[in-house]
Amino acid sequence: MLEFAKYRDAVAGVRTTIQNILPDATRLNQEDATVIAITYEAVFENFLTWVRHADQSAVSATAKEVTSENVRCEETEDHLGMLRAFVAPIAAAASPEAKERAEVAIRTVKPTIARLTELSRLAPCGIHLLALLENTSADFMTWMYPGIVNKFAGVSPKYLDIHGVADQVHADEFVSAFEAERGRVEWRSEIEETTGLAIRLLTDLFTAHQHAPSLSMAM
Ligand SMILES: [Fe+2]
Repeated sequence: MLEFAKYRDAVAGVRTTIQNILPDATRLNQEDATVIAITYEAVFENFLTWVRHADQSAVSATAKEVTSENVRCEETEDHLGMLRAFVAPIAAAASPEAKERAEVAIRTVKPTIARLTELSRLAPCGIHLLALLENTSADFMTWMYPGIVNKFAGVSPKYLDIHGVADQVHADEFVSAFEAERGRVEWRSEIEETTGLAIRLLTDLFTAHQHAPSLSMAM
């Protein structure tokens, strides 16, 4: 069981798990990369909602400071707009097969996203989710250059560039925020559930290209 005292170790363990599920970028073709990019947008267009929920549910001043600053940064720099601008040219050039495969992957992650959105309202699960995402993003954002960006001409990596810098700082802030919450919030089983779902979400996202096509496609 994940104990508060071992929080940093647990977060590091999740980071290792995610490092190991990232596919070999050299073995992905352009269609695979398209499927992952479209699925990525469907997942991370929820990020601001999760930060807002974490902010609304935070009980400690330290956590509140971190989440409110994050909401402000996401909104004023328009990270959602950057994400959409990043994926838009890839989605616009997607083949019908790539779109169909992305739809299958998105259907797979939808229930996970829905549950994580509920959990993000529940202290300290929202902050826990953000701590996990911010601590794994250095790896998956770095992976997305060879995994996605470099496979397409004319795709702006601005969304990745800004997060490669910012998330190193955010990662530590959210761990501190969670630790600040620990003295204020009772242990709850939903923390473990959040861990499992965050791993499942990132795993399903970065293996989106491996999801089986729907039966209607196979027939
Ligand atoms: Fe962001």
